[in-house]
Order: sequence, then C-alpha cells, then structure tokens
Amino acid sequence: MKTPAAWRRNRPMWVRNAWYVAAWSHEVADDGLLARTIMNEPLVLYRTGGGTVVAMEDRCCHRLAPLSLGRREGDDLRCMYHGLKFGPDGRCNEIPGQTTIPARAVVRGYPVVERGSWIWVWMGEAARADVSQIPETIAASDPDWNIGMGCLDYAANYQLINDNLLDLSHLAFVHENTLGRGTPQWATEQPIRARLDRGVRFQRRFRGRGPSHYFGKPGERYDMWHSYDFLVPGLFIQRPAWYPLGTAKRCDGKAPAEEPLFVRCDDQAVIPVTDRSSRYFYSAGGRSKDASLELAGEIFRFTEVAFHEDKVIIEAQQKVIDQDPGRQMLSLSMDGGPNLFRGIVRELIAAETSIGGGAEAARAG
Ligand code: FES
Ligand SMILES: [Fe+2]
Repeated sequence: MKTPAAWRRNRPMWVRNAWYVAAWSHEVADDGLLARTIMNEPLVLYRTGGGTVVAMEDRCCHRLAPLSLGRREGDDLRCMYHGLKFGPDGRCNEIPGQTTIPARAVVRGYPVVERGSWIWVWMGEAARADVSQIPETIAASDPDWNIGMGCLDYAANYQLINDNLLDLSHLAFVHENTLGRGTPQWATEQPIRARLDRGVRFQRRFRGRGPSHYFGKPGERYDMWHSYDFLVPGLFIQRPAWYPLGTAKRCDGKAPAEEPLFVRCDDQAVIPVTDRSSRYFYSAGGRSKDASLELAGEIFRFTEVAFHEDKVIIEAQQKVIDQDPGRQMLSLSMDGGPNLFRGIVRELIAAETSIGGGAEAARAG
C-alpha cells in the first residue's frame, strides 16, 4: 500500500481543460464503437449517420456497464445490459418497462473535433472548449505531404514520455544507431528555448552535418534548421528542414527564409491513459515534393524503430522509479525543457483549481 507521501509524489497531474487525441480518424469506423481511456476516464466513440464523431462516457448511468459493449441504433446507442437508449447528446431517450425518464438518466458527453486525421476530445469543462488551441497537424489526405501513421502503448506515466520529447539530447544515446546516428551535436549543443502560451518552442541549427537515412548523398554535408513546438497536454509538432552547406552561417542563427532542400514532418501526441499507462500517437514523413510515398514509408518505419528504443528505456525508467518513488532526480542543464514544460503544466493545473476546474486538479495543486 502506498504511504501518503508516496501517494502525493505519484498523484495524477494532468490538465483537464485541453484537447486530447483519442484516436486516429480511421479508427472510428462508420458503424463501430471504439472504447478508449483518457486520464482514467472511460470513453466510447462512434460516428453518427452524418459522419460526426460522438464521444461520451463509456459508463451507463444505470448500473455502470460499459456502453462500448452496447449496440448502435441509428445515431443512438443502446446499453446491452438492461436496454437504456441514449442519444448522441448523452441523454437517455428510452427505458424499457417505464415511461418516465429521470433527469439524471444522462451520460457525460465530450466536445469533439476531427482535424488533421486525429479525433480531439476536450476533457475539461465543455464551456471552456477552445478549438483555437488545436495545433495545425498534417492530415493523411493532404496532397502536400506523405506520411505514415502509428501508435504505441506505454506502461509508463505520460510525463516521462513528455520529458523525453522535451530533451532531444537523448538522440545521441538512445538512438545512436537510428535517429541520432552521426550527430553528437544533439547532446553537445543546446537548443534555443522560447516559452509559448501553452508550450515551449525549441530551435537549433546543425552546421555541416552528414546525410541522414532519408536525405542527402554520402560524403556531402548540409546545414539543418531544426524547430519544434511542444504543447499542452503533450503535442510534438516538428518540421526539420535541410539546406545547402553555408546557409546557417549566412542566416546568422536565424530561421532561413529560402526554400529548403528537404522538409520532414513529425506530429505526435502523448496521452495519459492511467497514472501508469499512456498512448503515443505519431506520424512521420516528408513533403510530397521531397519524399515519394515509398520514401515517406521508409522514414516512418525507421522512425518507428527509434520509438521502440524510447519505449524500452522509458518503461525501464518507470520500473526503477516505482522501486523507490521518493528518490529525487538530479536536474542538469539538459533538463531545461522538461522543467519548463512541467512548470507550465503545474500552472495550468493550479489555474484550473482556482476556477474549480476539476477534482484531479484540486488534488494535485
Ligand atoms: S447498466 Fe445500462 S441499462 Fe443497466
Ligand atoms: Fe526518442
């Protein structure tokens, strides 16, 4: 059993008033029911006949059976335990054997937006749902880009995955034979960090780096402008661009305005499922003018190999942490990004607490 102190250290820490990726668009079929858990909350997702995605609590208000084991009836969803039927707004509209429907016969509905091939669900107060907070991500149907799409389940707290993405110095070690091959600068040169409204922007330039697995000729050298945003709750939006050698010097450390030789793209979303499990959605590829479908597929597969390298070290790290949850970490200069982002998360949770924005936030504040 956890001690109170250990419980405090392990308390859930997540922002409720944010858009969370619940699924890839293609995972929500026209006729099925998809069960998902986000921040310990069970959700069921489905599409109405008009194609609109519905997200509601996957827990019947009667005896708490999962609605995802229910049956679609037109745009309604019937619980297949005792037959209560719910509309897409979560209101019960039929109870077998009685004509009166109590006002409390309702399951919670969540605001949903389908954009950029992802299904985004707002997990906080519905009245605060703000679609302007959804970042631009690349849809599979976008003709300007070729991407592959995937997903990994982690046995680890989502913050450890966020930390990993907020400190790419690990590329030189975890990914020494994949994403970090031939570029020790990942560890030796710090990026420039800028705080955004709800996240952190990282920028750095690589001078005279060799070709990667997806771009460049053997023996040639290039400059690369590397920029990504990491946004609440755990969104990684990256567009690294390659330029002829000498571009970085000419631009004096600023983002080049000229046309790049090659641009790759990475969109990722880290989702807390429970305190000790997470889901990691990702796409990877390149501009269609640089990367054919075949090359984009290679970029994706190669990247996915690297993501399994992350999974090995992070899940092992979680196990070691859980052996002694009180053990302090040592903060170093490379931890600036993770520390900054964790501070932003704490601020948002504290703000939610002050507006009464959720029991979880109140416990964590
Ligand atoms: S649990 Fe759903 S109808 Fe009884
Ligand atoms: Fe990694």
